[in-house]
Amino acid sequence: MSNSEQILVLVKPDGVARGLVGEVISRIEARGYVIAKLELRQATAELLAAHYAEHVAKPFYPALVEYMTAGPVVAMVVEGAQVITAFRTMAGATDPIKAAPGTIRGDLGRDWGTGEIRNIVHGSDSPESAAREIALWFG
Ligand code: RTP
Ligand code: MG
Repeated sequence: MSNSEQILVLVKPDGVARGLVGEVISRIEARGYVIAKLELRQATAELLAAHYAEHVAKPFYPALVEYMTAGPVVAMVVEGAQVITAFRTMAGATDPIKAAPGTIRGDLGRDWGTGEIRNIVHGSDSPESAAREIALWFG
């Protein structure tokens, strides 16, 4: 599997609290991807500042940290050819109300009227991001 890739997937606190860990894992496994690592973790503000470094200065960042530290997350390393593109397609658009039906966010997410975007999962957006994020969460 020389062209195999890895991606960091998080089931975010809303996904864990709503009992959607199994649903997310089922979709990953149903596509034939392999879960190489998996751990229930409580994210800290420090870890998130590194994980979401490109968003730290943005106006939504304080609400994002509050959302992402509200409860545990399930962190996974998922493997397979082109898994980064495939998982991002499976996750759907960032905003669940714009995410297509059939995607994780489009099937399972909504606007809860809380102000921030709760969207169940995170997936690394490039091989460089994946390597950086896997080192942060599992290094
Ligand atoms: P993620 O990194 O979590 O997989 O999500 P993404 O690539 O689809 O979206 P990204 O632009 O990287 O944003 C990271 C997370 O920040 C929250 N967000 N809120 N209020 C806003 O305008 C806004 N924009 C982004 C979301 O939780 C998003 O997943
Ligand atoms: Mg992102």
